[in-house]
Amino acid sequence: MSQGRIPVIFDTDPGVDDALALLFALAHPDIEMLGITTVFGNVEVPQATANALLLTHLCDRDVAVAQGAGKPWRKAPHPPPAFIHGADGLGELALTRPATRCADSRSAANFIVDTVMARPGEVSLVAVGPLTNLADALTLQPDLPTHVKSIVIMGGTVLEPGNVSPVAEANIWNDPDAADRVFTAGWPLTMVGLDVTHRVVVTVEMLERVAAAHQHPATDALLHAFRFYANFYATRHGHLVTQPGSYAHDLLAFMYLLHPDYFGTESGVIRVALEGLAQGQTMMCRQPFMHYAQAGWEANMPQSKACMSVQSQACLSLLEETLMQPWLSP
Ligand code: RIB
Ligand code: CA
Repeated sequence: MSQGRIPVIFDTDPGVDDALALLFALAHPDIEMLGITTVFGNVEVPQATANALLLTHLCDRDVAVAQGAGKPWRKAPHPPPAFIHGADGLGELALTRPATRCADSRSAANFIVDTVMARPGEVSLVAVGPLTNLADALTLQPDLPTHVKSIVIMGGTVLEPGNVSPVAEANIWNDPDAADRVFTAGWPLTMVGLDVTHRVVVTVEMLERVAAAHQHPATDALLHAFRFYANFYATRHGHLVTQPGSYAHDLLAFMYLLHPDYFGTESGVIRVALEGLAQGQTMMCRQPFMHYAQAGWEANMPQSKACMSVQSQACLSLLEETLMQPWLSP
């Protein structure tokens, strides 16, 4: 392992906040990006793949991109939210990847298994879309959890209201069956959910400073996409009208990976509601001493961590410092 760098596979549905997270990860010197795996969610999966290829091209990074699941395990797919991320997922950017940038021939699940098993115990997974690819990888390699170093998920919520229903967060709601499989697989998993992502607002102003400093197609594209995203947030949240911006969501998964000390966590069994009005709700057992009799909450069920508090200013400072340093070739 290269000294000090964290080898990572990024599972994503880009998506504007996914793009911000990706650029941050590519810019950060302590992250070794082993590959990007794509999944449906903010856009259909071929578009997610095209966006990952485009963004890595703009950043001049030849990172492998493997396409993954195009639909959930069991529930009917929902149309992508073009009103949030734009029809192309990047705020109607109107840029296309060069024909020379092609996806890996393996599926996302195969890519994850191959990459983890090539470096057992070293690789971390950062997953910021529906968890279908990870669940598929568990089907291919059931002992994968013992070979992964850590897994950080942006998704779910413990106490904060949901963003697609009163109780459900979008990534989990998009494939609740896959999410429940992943939460109960028994690996060192941390959930970075709305409890913390709604506490960190990235402003358009910050990304304007970044774009002005670099004068580069990658940061220009990010700013364009982020303005579109912030316009959506301004229609929903009054405080984002006066100071345009958006919740940090996917970015915080990388923040946790690099700086778990910025977060307060709780441990417990996390399960996902598969059906009905609560579909996609992440339910965390916060009272293990209760020994609940209901099946599914047995004392030997694998536990996960959930982030419950965050040092917002520390995250924003790290974001700006990381994006401002000279990480893009002229
Ligand atoms: O709920 C926030 C999550 O859903 C993020 O991953 C974002 O990209 C959206 O799809
Ligand atoms: Ca996402």
